[in-house]
Amino acid sequence: MYRRPTGTEDLLPNQQPAWRFVVSTAEDTAARFGYGRIDTPTFEETALFVRGVGEGTDLIEQETYTFEDRGGSKLTLRSEGTAPAMRAYLQDGLQSAPTPVRLYYVTSIFRYDRPQRGRLREHHQFGSEAIGEADGAMDVETISMLASFYRNVGLRSVALQLNSIGDALCRPAYVELLKRYYRPHLDEVCTNCRVRFEKNPLRLLDCKEDRCQPIIAQAPKPAEHLCSGCRDHFERVQRLLTALGQPFTLNDRLVRGLGYYTRTVYEFYGTREGAQAALGGGGRYDGLIEELGGKSTPAVGFGCGLERVLLTLREEGHETMAAPGIDAYVCHVGSEAQSWALQVAGRLRDHGLRVVTTPSDRRVPAQLRQAEHYRARYALIVGEEEARTHTLSLRSMATREERRNLSLESVTQLLLSSVPDPQ
Ligand code: HAM
Repeated sequence: MYRRPTGTEDLLPNQQPAWRFVVSTAEDTAARFGYGRIDTPTFEETALFVRGVGEGTDLIEQETYTFEDRGGSKLTLRSEGTAPAMRAYLQDGLQSAPTPVRLYYVTSIFRYDRPQRGRLREHHQFGSEAIGEADGAMDVETISMLASFYRNVGLRSVALQLNSIGDALCRPAYVELLKRYYRPHLDEVCTNCRVRFEKNPLRLLDCKEDRCQPIIAQAPKPAEHLCSGCRDHFERVQRLLTALGQPFTLNDRLVRGLGYYTRTVYEFYGTREGAQAALGGGGRYDGLIEELGGKSTPAVGFGCGLERVLLTLREEGHETMAAPGIDAYVCHVGSEAQSWALQVAGRLRDHGLRVVTTPSDRRVPAQLRQAEHYRARYALIVGEEEARTHTLSLRSMATREERRNLSLESVTQLLLSSVPDPQ
């Protein structure tokens, strides 16, 4: 028996309504903020991710799905959404659009992560990118949009954490300071931190190992070493969030895993105990477009894991959404009847109704059980008599009430006039 690859999920029919609800809420939220949808290919040139996300990050060093195609091109499955969106921005002429350019996506992301609850090797993100605006108000717009998505989807308790990690002006000096502080502690920290020290020193602050905690506690923090431009920006973001009534906590250890961030970084967490994993996160990345060969352009955005949102909704006790039932199940008895049943089903579907019929000969009680399985509102029963006179018998599945000798037209009208509101 074949099994799906570790860290991937099947999405069965009964799970689709909840999934579609989350996806359509993301789309609707983005539309309310004036963001236009972008879809990029499932794979890109490997170099795009290496350049964009940065060598030395866990994503590039350990998590990408990279392969060579039959023509010898080195390709990587989409391991995050920002670098591809910026590649498209540069390649497809979006630079000439009025700024800011507001983009969003709902897409699959592939990471060779260690699978566990809420951590998959293929997950899906609702992401946004706002390009061409340096003002802190843009950071706040993306934060509000993500907070609004969580509200619209019905999450009750999410908490925003915020930090600033400086920019090309002040970060190099800060990183030097951090390394100077860590150097004498290198034999006390975990092996991972020894690697981080060489490859990605900011991530030292992010270590979860117990033995590293006292060292992190005393370490210099990025927000304490910002240049005046970054400090003003950070203050403006906080002021605007407060004015909007968006609560936040400053977390001076929040650095994020991807290499392109500058200034604002943020993450949303579920506040329930044990819900450690970030529901979504993002920040500003003013250097990325230039890094990818464009002219220097500020930008800010977020990515939000949709599987984690669904998990949290379930943990918060939201009702699982049921798939909508069908309008009619057409039962038939005998081969003459089947031909009429097929015609009836076809004509009703042409009117937009949801109709299922039995493909083979079965006893009527078995067919009625099928009608219940599909949660049909009505069963239409076609026997020899109905087939001969081109009529139908109709049974309400709720009240069991039956009516006979109905024309197809009157059944169509009855079904159409009683279509329930879509939930
Ligand atoms: P990220 O923090 O790597 O950021 O991912 C964003 C969100 O995706 C996470 O907060 C989490 O909810 C979800 N996520 C990440 N990895 C997994 C996984 N293995 N399984 C399930 N869910 C996961 C980015 O990807 C940036 N591109 C976000 C961004 C956009 N920043 C600026 N613009």
